[in-house]
Amino acid sequence: MCGIVGYIGNKQAADILVEGLSRLEYRGYDSAGIAVYGEDGLKIVKTMGRMDDLRKNLNEFGKPVGSVGIGHTRWATHGEPSDINSHPHKIGRVTLVHNGIIENYVTLKKALADAGRTFISSTDTEVAVQLIDSLYNGDPLAAITAALEQLHGSYAFGILFDDIPDTIYAVRKDSPLVVGLGEGENFIASDIPAVLKYTREYILIEEKEIAIIRRDGVKILDVKGNEIKKDTFKASWDIEAAEKGGYPHFMLKEIHEQPKTLRATISPRLQNGPAGILKEEIDDTLKMERLLIVACGSAMHTGLLGKNAIEKLARVPVDVHIASEFRYSDPIMKQGDAMIIISQSGETADSIAALRLAKQRGIPVYAIVNVVGSTIAREADYVIYTWAGPEIAVATTKAYSAQAATLYMLALRMAVDRKTISDERANQLFNALNELPDKVAEILDNNMAHYEKLAAMNKDVHDLFYIGRGQDYALCCEGSLKLKEISYMHSEAYAAGELKHGTISLVTEGVPVVAVATDDSITEKTISNIKEVKARGAFVIYVCKKGAAAEGDFYDALIELPVTDEVLMPIVAIVPLQSYAYYTAVCKGCDVDKPRNLAKSVTVE
Ligand code: AGP
Repeated sequence: MCGIVGYIGNKQAADILVEGLSRLEYRGYDSAGIAVYGEDGLKIVKTMGRMDDLRKNLNEFGKPVGSVGIGHTRWATHGEPSDINSHPHKIGRVTLVHNGIIENYVTLKKALADAGRTFISSTDTEVAVQLIDSLYNGDPLAAITAALEQLHGSYAFGILFDDIPDTIYAVRKDSPLVVGLGEGENFIASDIPAVLKYTREYILIEEKEIAIIRRDGVKILDVKGNEIKKDTFKASWDIEAAEKGGYPHFMLKEIHEQPKTLRATISPRLQNGPAGILKEEIDDTLKMERLLIVACGSAMHTGLLGKNAIEKLARVPVDVHIASEFRYSDPIMKQGDAMIIISQSGETADSIAALRLAKQRGIPVYAIVNVVGSTIAREADYVIYTWAGPEIAVATTKAYSAQAATLYMLALRMAVDRKTISDERANQLFNALNELPDKVAEILDNNMAHYEKLAAMNKDVHDLFYIGRGQDYALCCEGSLKLKEISYMHSEAYAAGELKHGTISLVTEGVPVVAVATDDSITEKTISNIKEVKARGAFVIYVCKKGAAAEGDFYDALIELPVTDEVLMPIVAIVPLQSYAYYTAVCKGCDVDKPRNLAKSVTVE
């Protein structure tokens, strides 16, 4: 996710662009830049780092003078954070800022390079600006329209042409973009907060519509060049609410972002069939005989999901380790082993230490990371980015599901490479991965009020247990952590079959037990364990596939899930557990986005 802004009017553009970008830093903050038209042409100031670094540059080297410009604050996906990879990108007569992912950038880059174009950055965005420049013969609309026919993926572009200094062009697909309407001035922005200081009037651009923004007005054209009349909207939010997209908390916003972030994680990797999954990131055939997955907290919990899927599909033994334990356990690692480090921030001290230990022992390290260019990303031998965008809430949700999706893709690729599953099974999983974002969207569209009600019913209990078997136990670990870390309610996750070996002594009248059963092969066993807690008075919330809840008196509340491939069910099932924790914390008046004692990235031991 990145933030883009544009301004055309009679004020100094630089100040307005910097102000707007500052309001969008929650969308990305590893580099930033602006491009402004002045008397002596287009001037670009851009830098790696945060908005403060850009301000320092502007103060030190002077702000470009002019009243037309575009700006960008970056969340790197392709190409590490650096000055050269930061936006705006200028090639030939075209200058562009981009929010999104060009999925076919490798193919396009090769074709453009073969046609003699020289690339200066390692970004997918540069491919777009090179393409538009290669198609530009003085008619910007023709060049943009022709480029859109070749670009696959998501984009919101702000575009300037050297020889048309009084116009900003904008176009979007999948990524957000609004046009702010002022008096003698107009704006573009990824999100409303960037322009609220100047105007509350805005219009929305639909997919592939081209906006032509001038001082005296805005025109919106369809792909055929016909002008489209657009409704004007009035933003009622205050700036802080707007940064959350109208949601009360970043956590709820990020729960709802999961269909989009899962699509960003999965779609680009499914362009070349099951055997081509993650080909961009991993060129060899994953020959390891054993995998060690090492991580902390929720990242470790996705490792448990990964273990289940990789062992089931690829028949490769997987050991999952808590990083803070692993690094001091003098672990056994031998030739043929490989390590997977999972980390949203890429800066978790214990996980970095585990990575370095593996490298000292000559073990190849694969990193599944969200923050591009982070320490773990830089030091691993292979990096698979989750592309979930900046995750602001301390309690992870969208990064967790993106990590799990990445592990499922890895498990499928390993199984295909090893021929441990049939082509038919591989295609089943491949198609189910493609549909996963829609399954998550189905839950979010229909069931949140139900989870809120259940949370309110149990908000004052002292203990709450999560039980499940296999992949469902792994899921319970994450559900329990979510509840604990944001609502401060005591909770434990238990392997359902293990409960009777001690902890069931804590189950008394009214104690809530969330029982998860998404794996048909062991559901009957889980139901037996549920009946054991029910017999002791538990309030059972049964989480299962839609239609699978056998009639019976073993549960008090039901959470039904849209059905997908059984191996992938945890990604669907985690959403109610995340939401239940969220609503419990809200009911209890907790600081949902910044829970006490916690930090978003634990960079100390
Ligand atoms: C999850 O909600 C927590 N914020 C925490 O457990 C987190 O997953 C853990 O600290 C690991 O962080 P990382 O993914 O950035 O390495």
